[in-house]
Amino acid sequence: MIHLHQPQVGQEELDAVAEVFASKWLGHGPRTRAFEAAFAAHLHVGAEHVAFLNSGTAGLFLAVESLDLKEGDEVVLPSLSFVAAANAVVASGGRPVFCDVDRRTLNPSAEDIERVVGERTKAVLVLHYGGSPGDIVRIAELCRRIGVPLIEDAACSVASTVDGRAVGTLGDFAMWSFDAMKVMVCGDGGMLYARDPEAAARARRLAYHGLAQPTGFGYAQVSSRWWELDIPEVGRRAIGNDLTAAIGAVQLRRLPELVGRRRELAELYDRELAGVPGLLLPPPLPDGHESTYYFYWVQMAPGVRDEVANELRAAGIYTTFRYAPLHRVPAYGSTDLVLPGSDYASDRTLCLPLHPGLDDEDVRIVAAALRKAVEARRPDRAPGPTA
Ligand SMILES: Cc1ncc(COP(=O)(O)O)c(C=O)c1O
Repeated sequence: MIHLHQPQVGQEELDAVAEVFASKWLGHGPRTRAFEAAFAAHLHVGAEHVAFLNSGTAGLFLAVESLDLKEGDEVVLPSLSFVAAANAVVASGGRPVFCDVDRRTLNPSAEDIERVVGERTKAVLVLHYGGSPGDIVRIAELCRRIGVPLIEDAACSVASTVDGRAVGTLGDFAMWSFDAMKVMVCGDGGMLYARDPEAAARARRLAYHGLAQPTGFGYAQVSSRWWELDIPEVGRRAIGNDLTAAIGAVQLRRLPELVGRRRELAELYDRELAGVPGLLLPPPLPDGHESTYYFYWVQMAPGVRDEVANELRAAGIYTTFRYAPLHRVPAYGSTDLVLPGSDYASDRTLCLPLHPGLDDEDVRIVAAALRKAVEARRPDRAPGPTA
């Protein structure tokens, strides 16, 4: 089976894990702090702005919790978002309000967001589809203009930049995911960024039971009653640990190599799939934008997409569509919404295998199978207008 994603871990990561075993310190400790410092440097921010967590989802929940939403408060997010984004809003007592996306980039424009912003809007939460930064600069400007915080779900875009600026640092909060399917992995883990160091400190407390001071060995060096609890605000346990941080630190060093290979594979798909009738390829990146190449996606006529996905699966090639439109999920109460861009993209888009474990021949096999499957269904079924 040619898989969609596959983690790239090897001897360097194993050596880092062995070193953590030998230290007998597996929990949150020096390697966590070193990983936070290295990741902050990668973003060109200070380490006081970031916190290493046990998942990207925890980062989303903590970012939304930091908004202190009241009942009826709204958070605007694209319908094509990861499910945890909407869950984080609902869990914090807010209401997710879904906006549309561009049918080709699958990212929202500033106008898509502005169209649904209202008096109760308390934040905007956007991802960067497949690692493409999208309209994030104008969205950040819009959020500043209307005075609402911007949360970037940067799970797809760990190495994406706009004019050299790290995606995730354009808004007020951001999180990255290092789960087993991401561009850099550590098993499970996530990083939270907050522009305001106070907000980052609060998120850190909330990620560790709400404790103002840790109660362990470290605190025993500065307090004579280190076991006592000081909880200004209740929290939960969502911190990362030294084992996963050690893996993350190696992956971060390898990031240029991992992303570089993804870019090569994406460019190979571009060449192999150019000119197939009835098949649309990802739009080119605007000048000044760098992507992490988390997804390589194609678009075709709706029924064709589903048939092709199943034909490829039967041929040992796993493809899928991310992210299923949340406005169609009854749990979020917006099934009567009509979002033409989101509907267009959801019915036509297919994400192809893309990870550095693929060799060029794998990409040629996928491209040939896709070309054959699409051509067999042409010419009567085209994807439809792209704007
Ligand atoms: C866009 C996006 N946001 C958030 C997450 C959640 O990250 P995690 O799996 O680390 O909780 C994911 C995971 O798939 C994701 O793809």
